Amino acid sequence: MVIYRSTRGLSPPVPFDQAVLEGFSADGGLFVPDPVPRLSDARLQHWRSLGYVDLAKEVMSCFIDPEVVPKQDLGRLLDDSFIAFEHPDPPLVPLDKKGQSWILELFHGPTLSFKDIAMGFMIRIMDYFLDRNDERLSLILATTGDTGPAAAYAAAGRERINCWPLYPAGMISLEQELQMTTVGAENVCPLAVQGCSNGGDDLDVVVARLFGDEPLKKRLKLSSVNSINIGRVLMQTVHYFYAYFRVAARLGDPLIFSIPAGAFGNFCGGALARAMGLPIQFICATNKNRTLHRIFSQGVFAKRPLRHSLSSAIDIVVPYNFWRFLYLASGGDAELVNRAVVEFERDGTVQFDDALYDKLRYGVVSTSVSDARTLSTMSDLFQRTGYLLDPHGAVAVAGAEQVREKFAGDIAWVSVATAHPAKFPEVIKQMMPAGRQLPEAALHPSIEMAKHAGPKVSTCRLEELEHRLQDEIETSLRG
Ligand SMILES: Cc1ncc(COP(=O)(O)O)c(C=O)c1O
Repeated sequence: MVIYRSTRGLSPPVPFDQAVLEGFSADGGLFVPDPVPRLSDARLQHWRSLGYVDLAKEVMSCFIDPEVVPKQDLGRLLDDSFIAFEHPDPPLVPLDKKGQSWILELFHGPTLSFKDIAMGFMIRIMDYFLDRNDERLSLILATTGDTGPAAAYAAAGRERINCWPLYPAGMISLEQELQMTTVGAENVCPLAVQGCSNGGDDLDVVVARLFGDEPLKKRLKLSSVNSINIGRVLMQTVHYFYAYFRVAARLGDPLIFSIPAGAFGNFCGGALARAMGLPIQFICATNKNRTLHRIFSQGVFAKRPLRHSLSSAIDIVVPYNFWRFLYLASGGDAELVNRAVVEFERDGTVQFDDALYDKLRYGVVSTSVSDARTLSTMSDLFQRTGYLLDPHGAVAVAGAEQVREKFAGDIAWVSVATAHPAKFPEVIKQMMPAGRQLPEAALHPSIEMAKHAGPKVSTCRLEELEHRLQDEIETSLRG
């Protein structure tokens, strides 16, 4: 039986359905699976030839017991989750002739970012549990631009779910905003929040405060599909298996993933896949917001003011999934994690001792990619090959170029492209020679359609957000 423990260890463990429906644990910690299943070579061998959806069925059934979701139902939910995908099998694009460097394109879902991969499933499984319990749910989620559209699309029209995507006004691309505000569903209520000097982090704080009030959380039936939700992280393990099976020549060969990291949820999916036995290593690629880079290069977790970058979806000051990573790296030491959380909340900084620092950086090299390097990476690759990266994929590719040599041996690497370039035309314009039109790869019909749809959005100031949400949710539950 797989149970879900809090990283802080102060609340009792819960089954999968409760972990998914509640989002945060009652003690404010994040859920982690126990045990993390270790896979035999025979099992990995069997998985090698599977397509993405069948692989997802295998991986997810390691984390969701049939007593909680019967296997047939799980299979159906996963099949449905990929219906709106251009193709569920994410393409792997070779960047050289030797088969050393690859791009994993995770942006072929309905809202053109990797968030779609987990979100379709998350919303469906929540709906499944709500149906079974005859309940309703109020989803609130802070977004730096891609979680919001993915959740809005997946939640649109579902009777048991109302959804409030919150975004820092003026800090996401117009295209991301339109994707969120033009779904045309009554149950999706996007809120543009003004006055977020710390971007999405300011919204995370409000969400965490609402979730920290247990009676309120219960009364408002709150949950979230940010990567605080363990369901998201579990689904994000699958693409590491999928890419590994296609790139590694032999089972057991090492492989490096370069990941553009923000809240660190995608990275944590990889860390879980590694804990399950996949022989992978990581490049943690950040932009000029270097919290994660400071952790892996100096052993210190410290807050600094937000800096705006061209890869805006990873403009994050507190990568909250790091607590999950710390839990895994420390061998499940919830007491240690809780002490670190308390220290971080009190002082805004935690220094890890040498022994723990060694565990944290095992198989991980971090780097920080400047905006100039992001643009030159996009432009060089485009000029050389005609391949267009979005700025986040460019952070991954540039990150690999910057630190690939720190890994011993002749290991292949996969740069994770997390968004379609059509979501960031303003950045693409900056890397094009003056007067040249946007390339065709920077356009997408779904975004062109969104430009002609009527947007629905409300605005609110950060100081008013908590009360505004409470009022709106209470009204929706009465309706
Ligand atoms: C395009 C893109 N790339 C990378 C990330 C970072 O993912 P995570 O927050 O899981 O680290 C995000 C998330 O916000 C994103 O939207």
